[in-house]
Amino acid sequence: MKNNELIRRRTFGIISHPDAGKTTLTEKLLLFGGAIHTAGAVKSNKITKTATSDFMEIEKQRGISVATSVMGFEYNGYKVNILDTPGHKDFAEDTYRTLTAVDSVILVIDCAKGVEEQTRKLMNVCRMRSTPVIVFINKLDREGRDPFALLDELERELGIHTRPLTWPIGMGARFQGVYSLFEKQLKLFSPNKTRISDDIVSIDDLASQLLDEQISADSAAKLREEVAMIEGVFEPFDEKHYRDAYLAPVFFGSAINNFGVKELLDTFVAIAPSPQPRETNIRKIDPSEETFSGFIFKIHANLDPHHRDRIAFCRVCSGKFERNKYYLHTRLEKEVRFATPTSFMANEKSIIDEAWPGDVVGLYDTGIFKIGDTLTEGEQLVFKGIPRFSPEVFRQLVNKNPFKAKQMDKGIHQLTDEGVAQLFVRQQGNVKIVGTVGEMQFEVIKFRLLHEYGADCDMQSMNIYKAFWFTSSNKEQLERFQDLQNYHIAYDRDDHPVFLAEGTWSYNTAKEMFPDIEFHLTSEFKHDIDIVQSIGQWGKN
Ligand code: G4P
Repeated sequence: MKNNELIRRRTFGIISHPDAGKTTLTEKLLLFGGAIHTAGAVKSNKITKTATSDFMEIEKQRGISVATSVMGFEYNGYKVNILDTPGHKDFAEDTYRTLTAVDSVILVIDCAKGVEEQTRKLMNVCRMRSTPVIVFINKLDREGRDPFALLDELERELGIHTRPLTWPIGMGARFQGVYSLFEKQLKLFSPNKTRISDDIVSIDDLASQLLDEQISADSAAKLREEVAMIEGVFEPFDEKHYRDAYLAPVFFGSAINNFGVKELLDTFVAIAPSPQPRETNIRKIDPSEETFSGFIFKIHANLDPHHRDRIAFCRVCSGKFERNKYYLHTRLEKEVRFATPTSFMANEKSIIDEAWPGDVVGLYDTGIFKIGDTLTEGEQLVFKGIPRFSPEVFRQLVNKNPFKAKQMDKGIHQLTDEGVAQLFVRQQGNVKIVGTVGEMQFEVIKFRLLHEYGADCDMQSMNIYKAFWFTSSNKEQLERFQDLQNYHIAYDRDDHPVFLAEGTWSYNTAKEMFPDIEFHLTSEFKHDIDIVQSIGQWGKN
């Protein structure tokens, strides 16, 4: 029974560059799952793309976005959990962290735009964690790039092998549908934003005259040629390669027209991994273990100073989570109990009695949680693989009112525990450096420090390009580096030193001068070698 709960769960995130169609696809998946009944339900929660400097708008949206943090629904016996990965540029760190709580992802690509900046960054995180990826190439109802060129670009830019499972027939005004390479079926397209099924024609043999009748002789000839090419060029699809994150199956469609979405969902539930074992600091935890364990990957604060409650999002990793049961908060070494754990079904929030691996539970938090905290039934351990990523913008936090130093200190520590930003402290002069992934977060922090903690402060620009955690087995080099770069070294919240490089040149110089030192763009280093190597891309903004 319990094993069944585990096997039927699919917890994933949809990632894309803004505008590629993530919200639209999410909505269609929820429609299929019966979790929502009208289009537009998710859309209205979307962050207004134009409100780039009006952070109040963001805060308003934040209030709503808690409802879309996790969207669970039932589909053909599967329990599907979509974890929302906010697409707005300024929410990138939150997005990165959410990717530590999923078992797989669906990557949405706009067929006219191909691989874009945010796609690259998010895929870097997926590669680092070997997360299986399915690609959905969207907007085929519009003129886009040649499908072969798109696959080529995906392989080149994202460092993953691809394997089309459907193939488009025409594009834009000439878009006629897709051919399913596995079901050997033709799915004919007619623009329609509301209906759910497509016209399907089974084609056992591509040479059949039926194909010419359905899509015209010219299109049929082209399709035959392209399918022959695919079979010749691409390796046959192997589920294991997908689950090993070596190969990404590719689907073509049009989310807004509900076209190609059902094949995507059917294949997804069939091949995507159920909850997987996870590493901790002492041993690997299997999801089928009897005892509960989980970790906090996201904290959502209520910005109303009269209701300073927070919701901590806990990903269940093993066993069964139960309401009102005592669990060990391993960092605080304290027993904790939750009377009102919540689950999320699209726009509805409800109190739950139990949850299984792969589920996400919202826990009422009085301020006891930090991102990465672990809960167990008594075993003292900490989940790994929830790193912090190098911020992209840095500011010095300057207190404007010396009488409020304590409040500022408390405020900035609490905000960084929530993951709103990262705090680094330079010992020389006790300088507090705040790092975020986008400018707007500074406005949010300033506002919250003032309104929630009564601390008025300034954020002064700093010339910092990236934060590098560093390690070395060569003690002599490590000491010399720390002496020489004293001014550019600060400490993170766990008291680990980071090198705040002013530019690629200072990073390159440091690497040349200290060849035995390894530099890391995340706070957990084992698997981030690819990321360090792709620093050129990562740094491009
Ligand atoms: P995002 O979450 O990735 O940012 O993208 P979103 O789903 O909001 O889609 C971005 C825009 O692309 C939307 O248009 C959406 O309607 C459109 N779109 C999504 N899928 C398709 C598709 O298959 N074909 C076409 N032609 N367009 C698609 P918008 O004008 O920004 O918003 P709206 O006015 O339509 O709501």
